[in-house]
Parts: sequence; structure tokens; C-alpha cells
Amino acid sequence: MNGVFITFEGNEGSGKSTQIERLAKRLRLQGRRVLCLREPGGTAIGEEIRHTLKHSAQNHAMTSEAELLLMSASRAQLVREVIKPALADGQIVLCDRFYDSSIVYQGYGRGLDRKWIATLTAFVVGPVKPNLTLLLQVPLAVSLARRQTREQEATTKTRDRFEEADEAFFAKIDTGYRELAKREPERIRVIDGTLSAEAVETVVWMMVEPAFRKR
Ligand code: TMP
Repeated sequence: MNGVFITFEGNEGSGKSTQIERLAKRLRLQGRRVLCLREPGGTAIGEEIRHTLKHSAQNHAMTSEAELLLMSASRAQLVREVIKPALADGQIVLCDRFYDSSIVYQGYGRGLDRKWIATLTAFVVGPVKPNLTLLLQVPLAVSLARRQTREQEATTKTRDRFEEADEAFFAKIDTGYRELAKREPERIRVIDGTLSAEAVETVVWMMVEPAFRKR
């Protein structure tokens, strides 16, 4: 695979989508081909699964096991339909969340067995692993405040099953990310998401740019 695969992770309101847009813009200005994706989603099938997971009026009774398998189905489709071909074609793939989210949300958050999630993930992604993962970290109070502002500013109300979780759930997500980052410091780079969007963009660039210098 000749491309570069970079994933973004973080709690709700950590600023991932803004930073993906900014990084894509910088890379495109250098004449590079960039593909921006999100999980769950990123394919027609994945976007339907995303709706079921997040917004469907029928999803209230969803079990944690079903949640994990739907995330995995969306990922299996995205890897084979989009990510693998794009990397083989030498493109840069930026993805808003990837398998770390399953370890953290379904493992730490929902309490499913993390070893089993890792086994399932190996089946789902095969050899496709991020070259670099940028973890945007914000304190829980900042995450909550940003979620509330987003909700107040939204012109249309779209229900999101994940945002209905209690604060204890988001605290577990925070712990999960911290532990993952400690376990894989080479791949997972932590960035302070409380800095201004401009400052975060600069830090992201400092971390990403060396990977492209020789390309
Ligand atoms: P987002 O695109 O707004 O971040 O919403 C995706 C939601 O799905 C978010 O709450 C995190 C959650 N999620 C999981 O629980 N497990 C996963 O594997 C992924 C990719 C996302």
C-alpha cells in the first residue's frame, strides 16, 4: 500500500471534524490527493448503519453486542470498498474515528470484553492499520459544554443515541483513550484539544508533516 492512513479519535466535542477539514485543505494545497471519511459511515451501506446506530427512532433497545457488530459491519464495508483501494492508489486517507473507537466505546464504555473486540477487529480490518492516529483530548467539562452549545445552536433537532449517555459513560471513554495512548505511544499521538482551532491545526501539522516529507 503506497498511501497514508491517518485516523482522528477523541471524545464528543473534541474538534475532530474541524481538524480533519483543516488538514485536508493543507494537504490539498500541496497538490496531494486526500480522501476524508467518517465512521460509522463512509459508504452507502455504512451510512444506513450509521442512521440505525445514531438517529433511528427504532434504536432505543439496541444491545451493546448489536452496537459493536453494526460498527464492525460498517467498518468491514468501508475498509474493502473505499480505504484499501484508495491506499493502493497512493491517496491520503483521513478518517474520523476507526477501530480505536470500538475498543474505547464498546469496550471501556459499554463494558464488552476488550480482548474479544480486538479479535473481531482483526477479522474486520485485516492488514489495514492507521499509520498515525491523532487523539484530541479535552476535559470532560469542556466536552459537555461543547455538546450543549452544539445542541443549542442546531437549527434542526436530530436525536443522537450516543449523546443520550450519562456523564459516567463519557468518563469511561476518556479513561479508555488515555490507556490506549499509553499502550501505543508511537502510533497514537495526544493533542490538547482545548487550544484554539488554529493552534491545534499547527500541532496536527507538526505531527503529520514528517510522514510526507520524503513523498
Ligand atoms: P460522531 O461521528 O459524531 O463522532 O458519532 C459517532 C458516534 O459513534 C460517537 O458517539 C462514537 C460512536 N462510535 C462507537 O461507539 N464505536 C465505534 O467503533 C465508532 C466508530 C463510533
